[in-house]
Amino acid sequence: MRLFVAILLSEEMKNALCRAQKDMQERNIRGSFSSEENLHLTLAFIGEYPDAERVLDALRGVDFAPFALGLEGLGRFGELWWAGLEQSAALEALARRVRRALAEAGIPYDRKRFSPHITLLRRACGDAAGVRVPAASMRVERFCLMRSDRGKSGMRYTELGAVEASE
Ligand code: 2AM
Repeated sequence: MRLFVAILLSEEMKNALCRAQKDMQERNIRGSFSSEENLHLTLAFIGEYPDAERVLDALRGVDFAPFALGLEGLGRFGELWWAGLEQSAALEALARRVRRALAEAGIPYDRKRFSPHITLLRRACGDAAGVRVPAASMRVERFCLMRSDRGKSGMRYTELGAVEASE
């Protein structure tokens, strides 16, 4: 199964991101928009791995305190457009701990540098100038192991388990 580790977003964050997507549509920007239920922030991408319980066991060893996360700006990786996050030492530390826990358990993951982003649109076509991501923030109190399946109408993400913050 195809696995990744992610922070799921609050309703307030998802609403703000959906408003940004609506703004894009009104500006005639085209592409494949992430559906509201699929919006998330990936901490580590594992990819094909057969044993979710083993991954969860490794992740349960990650200790972290709750922290605040805020949206900031719009960015692009080519045709993939994303919402950025305010600089956060706590977020960087969490991603580092998650990745270290995976590495120590011998679970492979994509080693590309952590580049926090929330994908809004793939295969984007249009002019991003003027598109605004509204302000929104949330308290991160858990992160999740997610499974990704290709459905008839796009990717379907399922939560397989969560690790809660320690306070
Ligand atoms: P993306 O949105 O920038 O594509 C599920 O695929 C999640 O894992 C997405 O958030 C995706 O980021 C992320 N991801 C990170 N590395 C990936 C990779 N090598 N292949 C697929 N998805 C990856």
